[in-house]
Amino acid sequence: MTTPTMEQSDTSTYDAQVTLRVHRFSPRAEKKRERKSNPFARKSSPFGGSHRPRGKSWVQEYTVPVHADDSVLDTLLRIKRDIDPTLAFRYSCGHGMCGSDAVAINGSPTLLCTAIIRDMAHREPAAPVTDNDGFRKTGPATDEAATAVAEAAETAAVSAEEAPRDEATGRLDLGVIELAPLPGFPVQRDLIADIDQMLEQIKKLKPYLMHNGELATTKDGKIDVFEYLQKPEALAKYEILTNCIMCGVCEGACPVYSGGEAFVGPAALINQARFVRDDRDQATEERLEAIDTADGIAACQSVRACSRPCPKGIDVGEEIWQLIAQVKER
Ligand code: SF4
Ligand code: FES
Repeated sequence: MTTPTMEQSDTSTYDAQVTLRVHRFSPRAEKKRERKSNPFARKSSPFGGSHRPRGKSWVQEYTVPVHADDSVLDTLLRIKRDIDPTLAFRYSCGHGMCGSDAVAINGSPTLLCTAIIRDMAHREPAAPVTDNDGFRKTGPATDEAATAVAEAAETAAVSAEEAPRDEATGRLDLGVIELAPLPGFPVQRDLIADIDQMLEQIKKLKPYLMHNGELATTKDGKIDVFEYLQKPEALAKYEILTNCIMCGVCEGACPVYSGGEAFVGPAALINQARFVRDDRDQATEERLEAIDTADGIAACQSVRACSRPCPKGIDVGEEIWQLIAQVKER
């Protein structure tokens, strides 16, 4: 499905255009149905996982004028304002700080606000790479297929400067960006995923400092110390982990987490590692015990797909690997 072009904005200053291909979803109102004693009925997860909502799914394309350096979030905001107010997506800070706008861009989990049009747009091959029976090649098994895949990749990777011009508008046609909700989570509407299950998993592992609770007091019993002091070397051991914004990008990239509810997930483990490394926290043993479970570290297959997309630069796979070593060495 395609939509009209922008009408309200002055689009004369835009020198390029891009097509956003959005995987949309509109939920159907849930009917309250009494479940009888069905032995196959899905039980709720101890981590609060929710069932997959039903509704209408479709793909909608928006071809819009852009500056190549705009973010994908900026472009979506203009679409929502000028073309289609029904398009739903979540965001807050717009600067990679709140973690609320994680989606899949071209199939990879990413934040909308840090994704730049120039980097994300790709040109589609003129014809799909298929064999004589019409099946799409998934790997270069033969020389011919390898050449076809390489040519398709070359076409897709054309830079903004080399992009052809659209005949009607004269703008550089940067190609297509595909947007879908964050994988591994139930979708609520359009690009909004329900991340409650991740937040429940993080909460269950007590993401706060646990100290013995003794505070220094004055002779008359008043509290004298309001903070637990720490040396810079001790802070350096876990500081990068405090940058986690709980965006869920690592969870969306993890093939184990995406496969179901049997894994507590990389974001929860990163938050646990943050307190395990903090020498002010006195619940290390309890924390290591809590993740030494079948759905804890035992479920991690060390694929390390979680490391590359972390927008805060945390090497998630390596941090989890070190946590696993610490659990096993107890
Ligand atoms: S570890 Fe990185 S990718 Fe994972 S939730 Fe935290 S900030 Fe997001
Ligand atoms: S809008 Fe806050 S991180 Fe992107």
